Amino acid sequence: ALRFVYDCDPGADDALAMLFALGRRDALDMIGITCVAGNVGLEPVLNNARRILELASRQDIPVYAGAARPFMAPSGKVSIMHGSDGLAGSALPAPTMALSDGHAATELSRIARAEGQLHICATGPLTNIALALLLDPELPKFVSTITLMGGAAFCPGNTTPLAEFNFAVDPHAAAIVFDSGIPITMLGLDVTRQAVVTDEMIHEAQKIGTPVALEAAYLLINYGAKDPCLHDPSAIAWMLEPKIFTTVAGHVSICTDNGAAAGQVVAAVSERHLAGRAPNCTIVTGVDSTAFLELFLNALRDF
Ligand code: BDR
Ligand code: CA
Repeated sequence: ALRFVYDCDPGADDALAMLFALGRRDALDMIGITCVAGNVGLEPVLNNARRILELASRQDIPVYAGAARPFMAPSGKVSIMHGSDGLAGSALPAPTMALSDGHAATELSRIARAEGQLHICATGPLTNIALALLLDPELPKFVSTITLMGGAAFCPGNTTPLAEFNFAVDPHAAAIVFDSGIPITMLGLDVTRQAVVTDEMIHEAQKIGTPVALEAAYLLINYGAKDPCLHDPSAIAWMLEPKIFTTVAGHVSICTDNGAAAGQVVAAVSERHLAGRAPNCTIVTGVDSTAFLELFLNALRDF
């Protein structure tokens, strides 16, 4: 199974991504979770990561606290989509498992060095990974790939006209990560807007009827009513079945201007726009959404 660290800001769709990945232990081995402020502040994010692990009986996975704010703003924007608790008012109890010692950024570097070649999946603002890169300049040698949900390469943003939420919250972090030389697979709004929750899917999840599937159904209904796209689960689906996606190779940089374009993806894909630069990113542009929803439901069935 693919060993990876999950850097996230749960967040209802991050929680769905966790359940999706944890349901596929045959293929994915989540060896740690590093949390970052994003959809809600760091405290509720840390609680939600552990609430979901406890629901899944996976208290063995260490959870590390990371950045409580982005680089260049005193606090992040929070999302209105996930409710004030970050899980759309879910009835899951408060967590009892402890956080693990160490800051997310130093742990990322420690784990990557111990693993030799670490896969990171990131579905929140990229502050923790950028901090890790600043603390440990040799980190790129120990990271094989970052699969991330963020950005909008060829379509409008969802937080500003030009920027998607994760990149809009911390554009500087996103810029550091894309400039790191680590190969990146980017699942942005281009693809995640194609992964739309359907009533049948919710009904199927309810039919499965386990506590995990019923919690997923709750999140799909209550978060899905505000934002029906399976943003963060798309990153997990990519790690499981890349063949259901379409991609283009490109050079991506992130706008850090302090204005209307903050967090915008600048995606060069043609020879002219690449202008001699090598691609640094696999930009995911399309998905077979039926296959994706089935993959997700099967993970709930297998749990
Ligand atoms: C992204 O922003 C957050 O609200 C979601 O969790 C997802 O990571 C979508 O733009
Ligand atoms: Ca997220």
